[in-house]
Amino acid sequence: MGPGNYTMSQKNKPHLARYESGNPVMTISAEQDAEITVRDFAAAWVARQAFFLGVFHRDTHAFVAQIYIGPVNWELPEFEIGYFADVEHEGHGYVTEAARAALRFAFEHLRAHRVRLECDDTNARSYRVAERCGMVKEGHIRENKRNADGSISGTLHYGILRSEFIARQQEAQGEPQLVDA
Ligand SMILES: CC(C)(COP(=O)(O)OP(=O)(O)OC[C@H]1O[C@@H](n2cnc3c(N)ncnc32)[C@H](O)[C@@H]1OP(=O)(O)O)[C@@H](O)C(=O)NCCC(=O)NCCS
Repeated sequence: MGPGNYTMSQKNKPHLARYESGNPVMTISAEQDAEITVRDFAAAWVARQAFFLGVFHRDTHAFVAQIYIGPVNWELPEFEIGYFADVEHEGHGYVTEAARAALRFAFEHLRAHRVRLECDDTNARSYRVAERCGMVKEGHIRENKRNADGSISGTLHYGILRSEFIARQQEAQGEPQLVDA
């Protein structure tokens, strides 16, 4: 599991530097780090602290994206979602397809009441994914951070409610797909 993840991380670092600088992939500097990161993901999954999903191409089995689901509030419950496309697999719709599946996982298996996404207001590719998944723009915090290059940008807040997700499922399939207890 080490070498493939190491190669993937090094290849993606420049691509992730602006909008995903906090992603665990950014901490990988050696093959051994890659192995540890994947083991950390597995441990975090079991502890229900973070759910990292690898997304792989159906035919080639190449890594195409990572999706992150993190608990915000287990009482509601509320989760946040994050994602990146592998730099060689951007612009094919893989992230949208995977994010939709991840939302289904959150609402169906984690019993989410809502799922939110935060993204930089200059990150059009990211908020287009959220909008294609039916997430609603809930807020725009203007000019609230300074970036590494000195520029200033704001933060967009997106969210989708359980009721909205179920309604979209019904619309797409013509019948209820998610049983709401
Ligand atoms: C944000 C990010 C994940 C978006 O990735 P993406 O590849 O654009 O998203 P998708 O996989 O859903 O692909 C959608 C694009 O593929 C195109 N596309 C091509 N074929 C497609 C198909 N069969 N189905 C759907 N979309 C298709 C779409 O037109 C769309 O392009 P557009 O946004 O220019 O209209 C990616 O740019 C990234 O990794 N950025 C760096 C990290 C980052 O910013 N993460 C988010 C932090 S909040």
